[in-house]
Amino acid sequence: MRNVNSTTVTSAVVRSFDGATGPRFRQVIERLVHHLHAFAREVQLTPDEWKAGIDFLYQAGKISDEARNEFILTSDVLGLSSLVDMLQSDGGGTERSALGPFHAEGSPLLAVGGDLKRDNDGEPMLVRGRVMDADGRPIARAQLDFWQAAINGLYWQQDAAQDPHNLRFRMITGDDGAYAFTTVRPAPYTVPYDGPVGDLLRAGGRHAWRPAHFHFIVSAEGCKALTTEVFFADDRYIDEDAVFGVRESLLVQTQLATDTTLAQRYQLPLPFHSVEFDFRLGR
Ligand code: BEZ
Ligand code: FE
Repeated sequence: MRNVNSTTVTSAVVRSFDGATGPRFRQVIERLVHHLHAFAREVQLTPDEWKAGIDFLYQAGKISDEARNEFILTSDVLGLSSLVDMLQSDGGGTERSALGPFHAEGSPLLAVGGDLKRDNDGEPMLVRGRVMDADGRPIARAQLDFWQAAINGLYWQQDAAQDPHNLRFRMITGDDGAYAFTTVRPAPYTVPYDGPVGDLLRAGGRHAWRPAHFHFIVSAEGCKALTTEVFFADDRYIDEDAVFGVRESLLVQTQLATDTTLAQRYQLPLPFHSVEFDFRLGR
């Protein structure tokens, strides 16, 4: 290895992993080194540019803590998290989308048809649908784990004025696989842009907005758990999500409903927003 030069360095590094403990690790590290070196060669990376990249990673480490992971956010705004989700998506099942940093374990149980909006500001919305298997058969006792931001664009973790159980629940579907709840229509919000990711977005002439969305983790015995999001087709940021989570199949059209029976059943003022979305779980 004494004659390492710009032509031989890549294979020297790859060979240095010959004793790797597992074949998958070896495959991944070999391709990583290959593409990393190919990138540096292709753009003729300068020492100053290399240092700017290292500084970015250093700043990302400095601003990260238990509650904030700037490395995940970097992966999100570069579309890597989204790509990994899509590579995982099952044929026949609902498409996957971002988990994001605001999922918390232990959300309170809400009965099917329950009210989540409570005293939140915002436009009341009825959300309904069914959980089905890959063949379209309803799944009884599937679990939905749900969370959303409030009308101010903040999750409870970001907003001391919100109760820690605000706008999140777990729900178990009935025999017909149905779920339903009332909530408030969420608003678009920005991903954190006061750190190195914000610098990256600004340098790239990009904004930090995400279109409004609901988060769901849907699971059932014998099925693959699904982490996904549901978006509103008429959202102004629908075609420019900062983290590339939007998929055509995850869009809902909001209807302005005037059905008095539904309004009474769910104690909603007329007219109210209504959306329907069915989930399919792969095996
Ligand atoms: C979210 O939707 O909660 C989210 C996703 C990626 C980055 C930041 C927030
Ligand atoms: Fe979110």
